Amino acid sequence: MTDDGSTLINLHDMEEAARERLPPMIFGYYASGAHDEITLRENRACYERIALRPRVLTDVSQRDLSTTVLGARVPVPILIAPMAFQRLAHADGELATARAAARGGWGMVLSTLSTTPVEQVRAATSATLWFQLYVFRDREMTRTLVERVESAGCSALVLTVDTPILGRRERDVRNHFHLPADVSIAHTMPGDMQRLPVLEDDSGLAAHAHRMLDPSLTWRDIEWLGSFTRLPILLKGILRADDARLAVEAGAAGIIVSNHGGRQLDTAVATIRALPEIAQAVAGRAEILIDGGVRRGTDIIKAIALGARAVLLGRPVLWGLALEGEKGVTRVMEMLRDELDLAMALCGCRSIEELSADLIATY
Ligand SMILES: Cc1cc2nc3c(=O)[nH]c(=O)nc-3n(C[C@H](O)[C@H](O)[C@H](O)COP(=O)(O)O)c2cc1C
Repeated sequence: MTDDGSTLINLHDMEEAARERLPPMIFGYYASGAHDEITLRENRACYERIALRPRVLTDVSQRDLSTTVLGARVPVPILIAPMAFQRLAHADGELATARAAARGGWGMVLSTLSTTPVEQVRAATSATLWFQLYVFRDREMTRTLVERVESAGCSALVLTVDTPILGRRERDVRNHFHLPADVSIAHTMPGDMQRLPVLEDDSGLAAHAHRMLDPSLTWRDIEWLGSFTRLPILLKGILRADDARLAVEAGAAGIIVSNHGGRQLDTAVATIRALPEIAQAVAGRAEILIDGGVRRGTDIIKAIALGARAVLLGRPVLWGLALEGEKGVTRVMEMLRDELDLAMALCGCRSIEELSADLIATY
């Protein structure tokens, strides 16, 4: 129950409640996708179209939802996706998310565009913490940031590769999206790089990203990154088997199958559709994670059965954060965990290892 007495029992309810709570500019920024939002909808629709083939009579009285990601044990195969500007949802922002992660033992990925410094976030959670990296035009600044993240104690770098330029999110253009005066970006240089411009005809984030992000990135830059960091690197935003092979050849420890939650290239393939060809191409040489549209426990079963090690959860974490801070993030993660537990039992599976491809109907 919430303060107003309404009952929130699933992630969709959390989104509706957050829509009522948040100012339209902020809800729009969090919820939107690029252009016609076709990929945003397809991410969900494709999960809905996949049918499960449950096993029966397998004694599911004991179930274990734990697994490992890059060698670290996690209680559930659900990590918190990197998401910018969490202080727009709640005054405690990324700290509240990290505290919830600490309480549940959940892995978390912190965004380059965090509104809380990585050192404070690291101090708030003893659970697995990875850092999502955008490569800046200023390579020295990028290098300094990576060194900072490494000394702060993050255990992996998640390099986002689907954002040479920001996708056009039309809700942000219409709302002149910008940061309020009391919220700034923690990992860029003091001064105007920590703020977003307020523009009459565009999203302030689009203009900021255009100024900051290096659109000339190539596969050679993965080598460059590897030359000065000892952290394992995951590439986030892979949607094709050939790119997955190149990622493995470039030394990536992991691949995150992602279309940025439908916020970059609209009509890009839904992630759960892209997953099988990538799993086949990678053939166990790197760990595969997936995000985009995960809203039900059964979605996680499908992702793992089709080759993912774990999923990342995006927007619903922000809905929890907006509604109840740390408690709300915990609530969202527990809802999804409980749904996964139920779905496992109903699929006749006792452990994550038992989530195999034969659970998926192929007709
Ligand atoms: C508000 C918001 C901000 C995001 N910020 C980042 C970011 O800074 N870096 C990044 O790699 N991905 C970012 N993402 C993408 C997420 O990491 C993730 O790929 C996506 O949200 C997953 O889809 P879902 O929201 O449907 O679960 C952001 C997504 C949202 C919704």
